[in-house]
Amino acid sequence: MYKFLFDLVFKKMDPEKAHHLAFFWIRLASSVPGLRTLVRLVLAPRDRALRTRALGLDLPGPFGLAAGFDKNGVGIDGLAMLGFDYVEIGTITGEPQPGNPAPRLFRLVEDRALINRMGFNNQGSARVAARLAARPHTSSTPVIGVNIGKTKVVEEADAVADYVKSTERLAKYADYLVVNVSSPNTPGLRNLQAVDHLRPLLAAVREAADRATAHHVPLLVKIAPDLADEDVDAVADLALELGLDGIIATNTTIGREGLRADPERVEEIGMGGLSGAPLKARALEVLQLLRARTGGRLTLVSVGGVETAEDAWQRIIHGADLVQGYSAFIYEGPFWCRRIHRGLSARIRAAGFRDLAAAVGSAVRDASDVRDASDVRDASDVRDASDVRDASDVRDPKNAS
Ligand SMILES: Cc1cc2nc3c(=O)[nH]c(=O)nc-3n(C[C@H](O)[C@H](O)[C@H](O)COP(=O)(O)O)c2cc1C
Repeated sequence: MYKFLFDLVFKKMDPEKAHHLAFFWIRLASSVPGLRTLVRLVLAPRDRALRTRALGLDLPGPFGLAAGFDKNGVGIDGLAMLGFDYVEIGTITGEPQPGNPAPRLFRLVEDRALINRMGFNNQGSARVAARLAARPHTSSTPVIGVNIGKTKVVEEADAVADYVKSTERLAKYADYLVVNVSSPNTPGLRNLQAVDHLRPLLAAVREAADRATAHHVPLLVKIAPDLADEDVDAVADLALELGLDGIIATNTTIGREGLRADPERVEEIGMGGLSGAPLKARALEVLQLLRARTGGRLTLVSVGGVETAEDAWQRIIHGADLVQGYSAFIYEGPFWCRRIHRGLSARIRAAGFRDLAAAVGSAVRDASDVRDASDVRDASDVRDASDVRDASDVRDPKNAS
């Protein structure tokens, strides 16, 4: 049904206009009393086995909407209505900015991918903070991540002050805070991923968040897939050294390898970050690097090319505590979260886990890691370490359908 609508309407529209139209409908539907509850009932997860505790937060499941879809935090409830377990808003910059000139969003339908050079178009930290402050707090309020970045006109040398400004304004409304240093569309931004630049930046944001709120706001850093493996390790070490709460991997790539789309068209599109299916392999690889380096000491959020429940499952069993997606939402439509949740529920059961938490990292955990039986499955289920499912068993999709 959605595929038909996509081919008939959205595919023929300018991608950014289609985004605004779809987002308008989502917000409209969620503003109708009763309808929001009804849609949520159909689309949001109810399986207790999916309930997730990460970053000190309780979530109905592990699957969230990645940053960039709702840059200004205007449609959080509508997105939660569609079944996202949490919504990461932003990137929000210290000051408002229009972003890059249009066209700046492109579809590569044959690759199930997008290229964007939006350039952090957003209303700025003051306006978004005021909007979040005005939100009523109810028991159904979804978990909100707030992703912050550098204002384009701010010099690299003054970047820390710009992030601190956003933190001071936004931290108290964030269930978790993300320092985005990995968008390819703000000149120089990705230089901030170098550990020498990142250390003072993250330390300053941590301090600012602690000054702004009485409680601990979890702080994460979002990294690019284009980092060399050693640099991924270096960021992981830094995150541990600074006592960060987690890492989000990955943002879009500047790479263009392995695309089916006509190379001339790709060339014509020009600069921007590539997202969607072509990012899948590298995003999983970066997750594996991070897991190996941090060994479960940080919350890992995996994003990049997640399209199916199997993709989400692979991230979870390779160590992701949380998973996010964006591009496939455009191609899959409003039933996407439901399909992911259902598929995850089925895989948890087929693999014999008690719940999702027990599956996290199960493909990389070896028997020596498993000291506490309750860590893996229900204690009554596990008689000895050899009873713990072999990683290859879980990895095989045949066992997890
Ligand atoms: C149109 C668009 C805009 C994006 N804007 C942001 C952004 O503002 N901040 C950010 O951290 N990531 C942004 N991203 C990256 C996504 O959050 C995500 O990391 C990336 O798209 C990979 O996930 P996917 O393959 O599921 O799309 C954007 C992605 C797209 C497609």
